[in-house]
Amino acid sequence: MTAQSVQARQRRGPVLVAGAGGFIGGHLVARLLAEGRRVRAVDIKPFDAWYQRHPAADNQRADLALREECRRAAQGVDDVYNLAADMGGIGFIEHNKAACMLSVLINTHLLLAAREHDVGRYFYASSACVYPAYRQDDARVEALREDMAYPAQPEDGYGWEKLFAERMCRHFAEDFGLTVRIARFHNVYGPHGSWDDGREKAPAALCRKVARALRDGADAIELWGDGTRTRSFMYVDDCVEGIRRIMDSDVDHPLNLGTGELVTVTELARLIEKTAGVRLEHRHDLSAPQGVHGRNSDNTRIRALLDWEPLVPLSQGLEPTYAWIAQQVANADAAAPGA
Ligand code: NAD
Ligand code: GDD
Repeated sequence: MTAQSVQARQRRGPVLVAGAGGFIGGHLVARLLAEGRRVRAVDIKPFDAWYQRHPAADNQRADLALREECRRAAQGVDDVYNLAADMGGIGFIEHNKAACMLSVLINTHLLLAAREHDVGRYFYASSACVYPAYRQDDARVEALREDMAYPAQPEDGYGWEKLFAERMCRHFAEDFGLTVRIARFHNVYGPHGSWDDGREKAPAALCRKVARALRDGADAIELWGDGTRTRSFMYVDDCVEGIRRIMDSDVDHPLNLGTGELVTVTELARLIEKTAGVRLEHRHDLSAPQGVHGRNSDNTRIRALLDWEPLVPLSQGLEPTYAWIAQQVANADAAAPGA
Protein backbone atom coordinates (compact mmCIF):
# COMPACT_ATOMS: atom_id res chain seq x y z
CA MET A 1 0.00 0.00 0.00
CA THR A 2 1.22 3.55 -0.70
CA ALA A 3 1.68 6.07 2.14
CA GLN A 4 -1.31 7.94 0.75
CA SER A 5 -3.56 4.90 0.79
CA VAL A 6 -2.41 3.92 4.28
CA GLN A 7 -3.39 7.41 5.39
CA ALA A 8 -6.73 7.06 3.59
CA ARG A 9 -7.30 3.68 5.27
CA GLN A 10 -6.72 5.32 8.62
CA ARG A 11 -9.63 7.72 8.16
CA ARG A 12 -12.22 6.21 10.44
CA GLY A 13 -15.47 7.74 9.25
CA PRO A 14 -18.55 5.65 8.44
CA VAL A 15 -18.65 3.26 5.52
CA LEU A 16 -21.61 2.85 3.18
CA VAL A 17 -23.02 -0.60 2.48
CA ALA A 18 -25.41 -0.34 -0.49
CA GLY A 19 -27.81 -3.29 -0.62
CA ALA A 20 -27.53 -3.81 3.16
CA GLY A 21 -31.02 -5.32 3.36
CA GLY A 22 -29.90 -8.10 1.03
CA PHE A 23 -28.19 -11.42 1.69
CA ILE A 24 -24.48 -10.59 1.45
CA GLY A 25 -24.99 -6.95 2.47
CA GLY A 26 -26.55 -8.01 5.79
CA HIS A 27 -23.58 -10.26 6.60
CA LEU A 28 -21.10 -7.57 5.54
CA VAL A 29 -22.70 -4.99 7.84
CA ALA A 30 -22.35 -7.43 10.77
CA ARG A 31 -18.68 -7.93 9.95
CA LEU A 32 -17.91 -4.22 9.63
CA LEU A 33 -19.68 -3.47 12.92
CA ALA A 34 -17.68 -6.25 14.59
CA GLU A 35 -14.54 -4.55 13.29
CA GLY A 36 -15.64 -1.40 15.10
CA ARG A 37 -16.62 0.52 11.97
CA ARG A 38 -19.55 2.88 11.81
CA VAL A 39 -21.86 1.69 9.06
CA ARG A 40 -24.47 3.46 6.98
CA ALA A 41 -26.66 0.60 5.77
CA VAL A 42 -28.88 1.46 2.80
CA ASP A 43 -31.46 -0.52 0.83
CA ILE A 44 -34.59 0.22 -1.19
CA LYS A 45 -36.64 -2.47 0.60
CA PRO A 46 -38.97 -1.72 3.53
CA PHE A 47 -37.13 -2.45 6.77
CA ASP A 48 -39.27 -5.48 7.60
CA ALA A 49 -38.11 -7.12 4.36
CA TRP A 50 -34.38 -6.82 5.18
CA TYR A 51 -32.86 -10.23 5.86
CA GLN A 52 -30.89 -8.69 8.75
CA ARG A 53 -31.22 -5.25 10.28
CA HIS A 54 -28.44 -4.46 12.70
CA PRO A 55 -29.52 -1.89 15.31
CA ALA A 56 -25.93 -0.60 15.65
CA ALA A 57 -25.89 0.53 12.02
CA ASP A 58 -27.39 3.73 10.63
CA ASN A 59 -30.13 2.00 8.64
CA GLN A 60 -31.70 3.97 5.83
CA ARG A 61 -34.13 3.36 3.00
CA ALA A 62 -33.23 4.88 -0.36
CA ASP A 63 -33.58 4.15 -4.05
CA LEU A 64 -29.95 4.09 -5.14
CA ALA A 65 -30.94 4.06 -8.81
CA LEU A 66 -31.49 7.80 -8.29
CA ARG A 67 -28.56 10.19 -8.40
CA GLU A 68 -29.74 12.43 -5.55
CA GLU A 69 -30.24 9.47 -3.21
CA CYS A 70 -26.75 8.19 -4.01
CA ARG A 71 -25.34 11.65 -3.26
CA ARG A 72 -27.03 11.64 0.14
CA ALA A 73 -26.01 8.06 0.91
CA ALA A 74 -22.33 8.61 0.06
CA GLN A 75 -21.94 11.96 1.79
CA GLY A 76 -19.25 11.85 4.48
CA VAL A 77 -18.37 8.16 4.13
CA ASP A 78 -14.82 6.79 3.90
CA ASP A 79 -15.62 3.81 1.71
CA VAL A 80 -18.48 2.52 -0.41
CA TYR A 81 -19.40 -1.15 -0.76
CA ASN A 82 -21.81 -1.52 -3.67
CA LEU A 83 -23.80 -4.73 -3.23
CA ALA A 84 -27.12 -3.27 -4.41
CA ALA A 85 -28.58 -4.90 -7.51
CA ASP A 86 -31.82 -6.34 -8.84
CA MET A 87 -30.78 -9.97 -9.09
CA GLY A 88 -31.34 -13.59 -8.18
CA GLY A 89 -30.62 -17.17 -9.18
CA ILE A 90 -30.93 -18.48 -12.72
CA GLY A 91 -34.75 -18.61 -12.46
CA PHE A 92 -34.79 -14.84 -11.88
CA ILE A 93 -32.04 -13.62 -14.19
CA GLU A 94 -33.31 -15.60 -17.21
CA HIS A 95 -36.73 -13.94 -17.00
CA ASN A 96 -35.79 -10.43 -15.81
CA LYS A 97 -33.03 -9.27 -18.13
CA ALA A 98 -34.15 -5.65 -18.40
CA ALA A 99 -34.57 -5.36 -14.61
CA CYS A 100 -31.07 -6.82 -14.12
CA MET A 101 -29.59 -4.37 -16.63
CA LEU A 102 -31.26 -1.44 -14.88
CA SER A 103 -28.88 -2.01 -11.96
CA VAL A 104 -26.52 -0.02 -14.19
CA LEU A 105 -28.25 3.06 -12.75
CA ILE A 106 -27.20 2.10 -9.22
CA ASN A 107 -23.53 1.63 -10.01
CA THR A 108 -23.41 4.69 -12.28
CA HIS A 109 -24.92 7.02 -9.70
CA LEU A 110 -22.95 5.54 -6.82
CA LEU A 111 -19.69 5.95 -8.74
CA LEU A 112 -20.57 9.58 -9.51
CA ALA A 113 -21.41 10.18 -5.85
CA ALA A 114 -18.20 8.48 -4.69
CA ARG A 115 -16.17 10.72 -6.98
CA GLU A 116 -18.06 13.83 -5.91
CA HIS A 117 -17.52 13.08 -2.21
CA ASP A 118 -13.93 11.93 -2.74
CA VAL A 119 -14.46 8.61 -0.94
CA GLY A 120 -11.41 6.52 -0.05
CA ARG A 121 -12.37 3.28 -1.75
CA TYR A 122 -15.19 1.83 -3.83
CA PHE A 123 -15.98 -1.89 -3.83
CA TYR A 124 -18.02 -3.40 -6.65
CA ALA A 125 -19.72 -6.80 -6.34
CA SER A 126 -19.35 -8.36 -9.76
CA SER A 127 -20.19 -11.91 -10.76
CA ALA A 128 -18.92 -15.07 -12.41
CA CYS A 129 -21.72 -14.31 -14.90
CA VAL A 130 -19.28 -11.94 -16.67
CA TYR A 131 -17.44 -14.96 -18.10
CA PRO A 132 -18.21 -15.96 -21.68
CA ALA A 133 -20.73 -18.68 -22.49
CA TYR A 134 -18.20 -20.32 -24.84
CA ARG A 135 -15.98 -21.10 -21.83
CA GLN A 136 -18.80 -22.78 -19.90
CA ASP A 137 -20.47 -25.09 -22.37
CA ASP A 138 -19.22 -28.33 -20.82
CA ALA A 139 -19.93 -29.65 -17.31
CA ARG A 140 -16.23 -30.66 -17.07
CA VAL A 141 -15.39 -26.99 -17.31
CA GLU A 142 -11.93 -25.48 -17.26
CA ALA A 143 -11.91 -23.28 -14.15
CA LEU A 144 -12.39 -19.62 -15.07
CA ARG A 145 -9.39 -17.32 -14.85
CA GLU A 146 -9.81 -13.59 -14.56
CA ASP A 147 -8.25 -13.00 -17.99
CA MET A 148 -10.90 -15.18 -19.67
CA ALA A 149 -13.65 -12.53 -19.47
CA TYR A 150 -12.76 -11.27 -22.93
CA PRO A 151 -13.62 -11.62 -25.82
CA ALA A 152 -16.93 -10.95 -24.09
CA GLN A 153 -20.00 -13.16 -24.29
CA PRO A 154 -21.37 -12.87 -20.75
CA GLU A 155 -24.71 -14.06 -19.37
CA ASP A 156 -27.45 -12.26 -21.30
CA GLY A 157 -28.82 -9.25 -19.39
CA TYR A 158 -27.37 -9.66 -15.88
CA GLY A 159 -23.82 -10.59 -17.00
CA TRP A 160 -23.58 -7.77 -19.54
CA GLU A 161 -24.54 -5.27 -16.85
CA LYS A 162 -21.89 -6.68 -14.49
CA LEU A 163 -19.18 -6.56 -17.17
CA PHE A 164 -20.13 -3.01 -18.15
CA ALA A 165 -20.17 -1.93 -14.48
CA GLU A 166 -16.69 -3.45 -13.94
CA ARG A 167 -15.52 -1.49 -16.93
CA MET A 168 -17.02 1.74 -15.66
CA CYS A 169 -15.29 1.21 -12.30
CA ARG A 170 -12.01 0.74 -14.15
CA HIS A 171 -12.43 3.97 -16.11
CA PHE A 172 -13.40 5.93 -12.99
CA ALA A 173 -10.12 4.70 -11.52
CA GLU A 174 -8.07 5.53 -14.62
CA ASP A 175 -9.66 8.86 -15.49
CA PHE A 176 -10.75 10.22 -12.10
CA GLY A 177 -8.33 8.57 -9.67
CA LEU A 178 -11.06 6.73 -7.71
CA THR A 179 -9.67 3.69 -5.88
CA VAL A 180 -11.85 0.75 -6.91
CA ARG A 181 -11.82 -2.90 -5.90
CA ILE A 182 -13.79 -5.57 -7.76
CA ALA A 183 -14.67 -9.17 -6.85
CA ARG A 184 -16.36 -11.66 -9.16
CA PHE A 185 -18.51 -13.71 -6.78
CA HIS A 186 -19.21 -17.34 -7.61
CA ASN A 187 -22.62 -18.60 -6.41
CA VAL A 188 -22.86 -17.58 -2.71
CA TYR A 189 -25.01 -19.45 -0.17
CA GLY A 190 -25.75 -19.25 3.54
CA PRO A 191 -28.43 -18.22 6.03
CA HIS A 192 -30.38 -14.95 5.82
CA GLY A 193 -30.89 -14.85 2.08
CA SER A 194 -33.54 -15.54 -0.54
CA TRP A 195 -35.04 -19.01 -0.17
CA ASP A 196 -38.62 -18.85 -1.51
CA ASP A 197 -39.31 -15.63 -3.43
CA GLY A 198 -38.28 -16.64 -6.95
CA ARG A 199 -34.78 -15.17 -6.53
CA GLU A 200 -33.30 -18.13 -4.65
CA LYS A 201 -30.27 -19.94 -6.03
CA ALA A 202 -29.83 -23.71 -6.18
CA PRO A 203 -28.46 -24.27 -2.63
CA ALA A 204 -31.33 -22.42 -0.95
CA ALA A 205 -33.96 -23.83 -3.34
CA LEU A 206 -32.82 -27.40 -2.73
CA CYS A 207 -32.63 -26.88 1.06
CA ARG A 208 -36.25 -25.67 0.91
CA LYS A 209 -37.36 -28.60 -1.23
CA VAL A 210 -35.70 -31.12 1.09
CA ALA A 211 -37.16 -29.46 4.21
CA ARG A 212 -40.65 -29.49 2.69
CA ALA A 213 -40.28 -33.11 1.55
CA LEU A 214 -39.40 -34.06 5.14
CA ARG A 215 -42.34 -32.07 6.47
CA ASP A 216 -44.73 -33.73 4.00
CA GLY A 217 -43.28 -37.23 4.23
CA ALA A 218 -42.61 -37.05 0.46
CA ASP A 219 -40.03 -39.36 -1.11
CA ALA A 220 -38.88 -37.12 -3.99
CA ILE A 221 -37.79 -33.59 -4.89
CA GLU A 222 -37.67 -31.83 -8.22
CA LEU A 223 -34.37 -30.66 -9.68
CA TRP A 224 -34.15 -28.22 -12.57
CA GLY A 225 -32.25 -29.87 -15.41
CA ASP A 226 -30.87 -33.40 -15.48
CA GLY A 227 -28.59 -32.87 -12.46
CA THR A 228 -25.32 -32.94 -14.41
CA ARG A 229 -24.61 -29.19 -14.58
CA THR A 230 -21.67 -28.19 -12.41
CA ARG A 231 -21.01 -25.19 -10.17
CA SER A 232 -18.82 -24.18 -7.25
CA PHE A 233 -20.57 -22.67 -4.23
CA MET A 234 -19.08 -20.26 -1.69
CA TYR A 235 -20.23 -19.96 1.92
CA VAL A 236 -21.19 -16.40 2.83
CA ASP A 237 -18.57 -16.08 5.62
CA ASP A 238 -15.86 -16.71 3.02
CA CYS A 239 -17.48 -14.14 0.76
CA VAL A 240 -17.43 -11.46 3.47
CA GLU A 241 -13.84 -12.33 4.42
CA GLY A 242 -12.85 -12.04 0.77
CA ILE A 243 -14.64 -8.71 0.33
CA ARG A 244 -12.73 -7.25 3.27
CA ARG A 245 -9.40 -8.64 2.11
CA ILE A 246 -9.89 -7.41 -1.45
CA MET A 247 -11.08 -3.99 -0.29
CA ASP A 248 -7.97 -3.51 1.87
CA SER A 249 -5.59 -4.87 -0.78
CA ASP A 250 -3.64 -3.14 -3.51
CA VAL A 251 -5.29 -5.21 -6.23
CA ASP A 252 -6.94 -2.82 -8.68
CA HIS A 253 -8.27 -5.39 -11.18
CA PRO A 254 -11.15 -7.90 -10.79
CA LEU A 255 -10.49 -11.01 -8.69
CA ASN A 256 -12.47 -14.23 -8.59
CA LEU A 257 -14.09 -14.80 -5.21
CA GLY A 258 -15.31 -18.38 -5.11
CA THR A 259 -14.25 -21.90 -4.26
CA GLY A 260 -12.72 -24.48 -6.56
CA GLU A 261 -14.94 -27.25 -5.14
CA LEU A 262 -16.84 -28.26 -8.27
CA VAL A 263 -20.02 -30.33 -7.79
CA THR A 264 -22.91 -31.40 -9.97
CA VAL A 265 -26.43 -30.30 -9.08
CA THR A 266 -27.17 -33.92 -8.13
CA GLU A 267 -24.17 -33.94 -5.76
CA LEU A 268 -25.36 -30.67 -4.22
CA ALA A 269 -28.80 -32.21 -3.61
CA ARG A 270 -27.23 -35.33 -2.10
CA LEU A 271 -25.11 -33.23 0.28
CA ILE A 272 -28.20 -31.35 1.43
CA GLU A 273 -30.08 -34.61 1.93
CA LYS A 274 -27.17 -35.92 4.00
CA THR A 275 -27.28 -32.77 6.12
CA ALA A 276 -31.01 -33.32 6.64
CA GLY A 277 -30.56 -37.05 7.31
CA VAL A 278 -32.71 -38.27 4.42
CA ARG A 279 -32.34 -39.82 0.96
CA LEU A 280 -34.81 -38.75 -1.73
CA GLU A 281 -35.61 -39.55 -5.34
CA HIS A 282 -34.90 -36.90 -7.92
CA ARG A 283 -37.40 -35.85 -10.56
CA HIS A 284 -36.02 -33.70 -13.34
CA ASP A 285 -37.70 -30.67 -14.89
CA LEU A 286 -35.86 -30.30 -18.18
CA SER A 287 -37.81 -27.19 -19.20
CA ALA A 288 -36.67 -25.17 -16.15
CA PRO A 289 -33.87 -22.56 -16.39
CA GLN A 290 -30.43 -24.18 -16.23
CA GLY A 291 -27.82 -21.56 -17.16
CA VAL A 292 -24.34 -22.52 -18.28
CA HIS A 293 -23.27 -26.18 -18.30
CA GLY A 294 -20.29 -25.79 -15.99
CA ARG A 295 -18.70 -23.01 -13.94
CA ASN A 296 -15.76 -23.12 -11.57
CA SER A 297 -13.43 -20.54 -10.04
CA ASP A 298 -9.70 -20.56 -10.79
CA ASN A 299 -8.11 -19.17 -7.63
CA THR A 300 -4.51 -18.94 -8.80
CA ARG A 301 -4.56 -15.15 -8.82
CA ILE A 302 -6.25 -14.53 -5.45
CA ARG A 303 -3.90 -17.08 -3.81
CA ALA A 304 -0.86 -15.39 -5.34
CA LEU A 305 -1.93 -11.84 -4.50
CA LEU A 306 -3.71 -12.23 -1.16
CA ASP A 307 -2.27 -15.51 0.07
CA TRP A 308 -5.83 -16.59 0.82
CA GLU A 309 -8.85 -18.19 -0.87
CA PRO A 310 -12.33 -19.26 0.26
CA LEU A 311 -12.03 -22.58 2.04
CA VAL A 312 -15.27 -23.53 3.79
CA PRO A 313 -16.19 -26.98 2.41
CA LEU A 314 -19.67 -27.17 0.90
CA SER A 315 -20.70 -29.93 3.32
CA GLN A 316 -19.78 -27.65 6.24
CA GLY A 317 -21.47 -24.46 4.95
CA LEU A 318 -24.66 -26.35 4.14
CA GLU A 319 -25.23 -27.20 7.82
CA PRO A 320 -26.12 -23.66 9.05
CA THR A 321 -27.76 -22.94 5.69
CA TYR A 322 -30.08 -25.95 5.87
CA ALA A 323 -30.84 -25.31 9.55
CA TRP A 324 -31.86 -21.71 8.81
CA ILE A 325 -34.01 -22.61 5.79
CA ALA A 326 -35.69 -25.52 7.59
CA GLN A 327 -36.55 -23.02 10.32
CA GLN A 328 -38.02 -20.60 7.74
CA VAL A 329 -40.15 -23.44 6.37
CA ALA A 330 -41.38 -24.22 9.89
CA ASN A 331 -42.02 -20.52 10.64
CA ALA A 332 -44.02 -20.12 7.41
CA ASP A 333 -46.11 -23.20 8.31
CA ALA A 334 -46.79 -21.83 11.78
CA ALA A 335 -47.85 -18.47 10.30
CA ALA A 336 -50.14 -20.03 7.68
CA PRO A 337 -51.13 -23.55 8.78
CA GLY A 338 -52.15 -25.82 5.92
CA ALA A 339 -50.80 -23.45 3.23
P1 NAD B 1 -29.69 -9.60 -2.69
O1 NAD B 1 -30.74 -9.53 -3.75
O2 NAD B 1 -29.98 -10.38 -1.48
O3 NAD B 1 -29.24 -8.14 -2.25
C1 NAD B 1 -29.24 -7.03 -3.13
C2 NAD B 1 -29.94 -5.89 -2.41
O4 NAD B 1 -29.92 -4.72 -3.26
C3 NAD B 1 -31.42 -6.19 -2.13
O5 NAD B 1 -31.70 -6.13 -0.75
C4 NAD B 1 -32.16 -5.11 -2.90
O6 NAD B 1 -33.33 -4.63 -2.24
C5 NAD B 1 -31.11 -4.02 -3.01
N1 NAD B 1 -31.42 -3.10 -4.08
C6 NAD B 1 -31.86 -3.41 -5.33
N2 NAD B 1 -32.13 -2.27 -6.01
C7 NAD B 1 -31.85 -1.23 -5.18
C8 NAD B 1 -31.95 0.17 -5.31
N3 NAD B 1 -32.40 0.73 -6.44
N4 NAD B 1 -31.59 0.94 -4.26
C9 NAD B 1 -31.16 0.36 -3.08
N5 NAD B 1 -31.06 -0.96 -2.91
C10 NAD B 1 -31.41 -1.76 -3.95
O7 NAD B 1 -28.38 -10.16 -3.43
P2 NAD B 1 -27.01 -10.68 -2.83
O8 NAD B 1 -26.98 -12.14 -3.06
O9 NAD B 1 -26.82 -10.14 -1.47
O10 NAD B 1 -25.98 -10.02 -3.84
C11 NAD B 1 -25.26 -8.84 -3.51
C12 NAD B 1 -24.43 -8.42 -4.72
O11 NAD B 1 -23.55 -9.50 -5.08
C13 NAD B 1 -25.22 -8.09 -5.97
O12 NAD B 1 -24.59 -7.07 -6.68
C14 NAD B 1 -25.14 -9.37 -6.76
O13 NAD B 1 -25.32 -9.16 -8.15
C15 NAD B 1 -23.73 -9.82 -6.44
N6 NAD B 1 -23.54 -11.26 -6.63
C16 NAD B 1 -24.19 -12.15 -5.81
C17 NAD B 1 -24.02 -13.52 -6.02
C18 NAD B 1 -24.69 -14.54 -5.15
O14 NAD B 1 -24.52 -15.74 -5.39
N7 NAD B 1 -25.44 -14.14 -4.12
C19 NAD B 1 -23.21 -13.97 -7.07
C20 NAD B 1 -22.60 -13.03 -7.89
C21 NAD B 1 -22.76 -11.68 -7.66
N1 GDD C 1 -32.38 -21.75 -8.66
C1 GDD C 1 -32.52 -23.09 -8.78
N2 GDD C 1 -33.59 -23.70 -8.17
N3 GDD C 1 -31.62 -23.79 -9.50
C2 GDD C 1 -31.78 -25.13 -9.59
C3 GDD C 1 -32.83 -25.80 -8.96
C4 GDD C 1 -33.79 -25.05 -8.23
O1 GDD C 1 -34.76 -25.57 -7.67
N4 GDD C 1 -32.71 -27.13 -9.22
C5 GDD C 1 -31.61 -27.26 -9.97
N5 GDD C 1 -31.06 -26.05 -10.23
C6 GDD C 1 -29.90 -25.81 -11.10
C7 GDD C 1 -30.10 -24.72 -12.16
O2 GDD C 1 -30.90 -25.20 -13.24
C8 GDD C 1 -28.68 -24.42 -12.55
O3 GDD C 1 -28.24 -25.33 -13.54
C9 GDD C 1 -27.92 -24.64 -11.23
O4 GDD C 1 -28.80 -25.36 -10.35
C10 GDD C 1 -27.49 -23.35 -10.53
O5 GDD C 1 -28.59 -22.48 -10.49
P1 GDD C 1 -28.55 -21.10 -9.64
O6 GDD C 1 -27.90 -21.33 -8.36
O7 GDD C 1 -29.94 -20.54 -9.63
O8 GDD C 1 -27.73 -20.10 -10.56
P2 GDD C 1 -26.36 -20.10 -11.42
O9 GDD C 1 -25.25 -20.80 -10.73
O10 GDD C 1 -26.67 -20.61 -12.81
O11 GDD C 1 -26.06 -18.55 -11.47
C11 GDD C 1 -25.96 -17.89 -10.22
O12 GDD C 1 -24.63 -17.65 -9.86
C12 GDD C 1 -24.02 -16.52 -10.39
C13 GDD C 1 -22.60 -16.40 -9.86
O13 GDD C 1 -21.91 -17.59 -9.96
C14 GDD C 1 -26.87 -16.70 -10.23
O14 GDD C 1 -27.28 -16.44 -8.90
C15 GDD C 1 -26.24 -15.46 -10.72
O15 GDD C 1 -27.10 -14.36 -10.40
C16 GDD C 1 -24.87 -15.30 -10.05
O16 GDD C 1 -24.25 -14.12 -10.51
